[in-house]
Amino acid sequence: MNKNADCCTDCENVKKVLGEIPSFKCHSFQHVRSTGSTNDDLKADWKILPPPKRILLADHQQNGRGQFGRKWENQPGGSLLFSFSWIQELDDSYSVPWPLVTGVALHKAISGAIPNQIEPWLKWPNDLYINESKVAGVLIETTHWNNHLCAVIGVGVNLKFSENWRPSVEKAIDLASLGKIFKPPELLEAILRAWSELAESSQNDTSFSQKLFHEFSKRSKPFWNKVIQVELGNGEKFIGKPKKLDEKGSLVIMKENLSLETLTSVFQISII
Ligand code: BTN
Repeated sequence: MNKNADCCTDCENVKKVLGEIPSFKCHSFQHVRSTGSTNDDLKADWKILPPPKRILLADHQQNGRGQFGRKWENQPGGSLLFSFSWIQELDDSYSVPWPLVTGVALHKAISGAIPNQIEPWLKWPNDLYINESKVAGVLIETTHWNNHLCAVIGVGVNLKFSENWRPSVEKAIDLASLGKIFKPPELLEAILRAWSELAESSQNDTSFSQKLFHEFSKRSKPFWNKVIQVELGNGEKFIGKPKKLDEKGSLVIMKENLSLETLTSVFQISII
């Protein structure tokens, strides 16, 4: 990791405001020009648990990772790339669906900052789409320590592709093509604020899950009308229609033979 990045004024501002964002007031913030993967850097902290509370922002990743071993490609300066560590005491009776929390936070931060007529939507559990193209993704990796969940939550947002470049793996779109130029630290701050607001209410509000699922459903409207192909971790593939979230935030889909299947984790969901 190149630790010698100049910290710009906007990054200095992130450091200043962290103290007023409840979930992050004890986190340290670091900005680097280039690294392999911000998720890998924070996972390296797991050698000694509990890990330090950190937020790491990078201009470029040489080995950015997506879900299930896929690559997350970027060009220097063209994306928002960051990870943060999160520690949560485990409760036998309830576990916060952090993937949905992160998706909703991402949607809130981005939809609140782009023109109203552009309507991003969430593909379960937390891919952010505009029309049929992906604009942002989340990679959450976890370990356990003394009845605590330790997570590294990594977020990548396509800000501006250069003329001759776009990611090769998926149909992707950048926010600049929609007329919105974001400075990475500013969007980072908006996402952290939205995430913290949800994380705080997950601790204080007994009806948090219902409210979160309602928010998710509202912010994923087009998804519920899609026909999707699901690929599971074991290679099994099937086609179906998303029906609802269950009480844990898992996705219930109706398969072509009309049977219902509940998905907790998938390799890939493709819209067809
Ligand atoms: C996906 O949609 O497959 C998840 C993409 C997650 C990419 C982010 S970029 C910052 C962090 N570091 C990584 O290596 N991956 C995540």
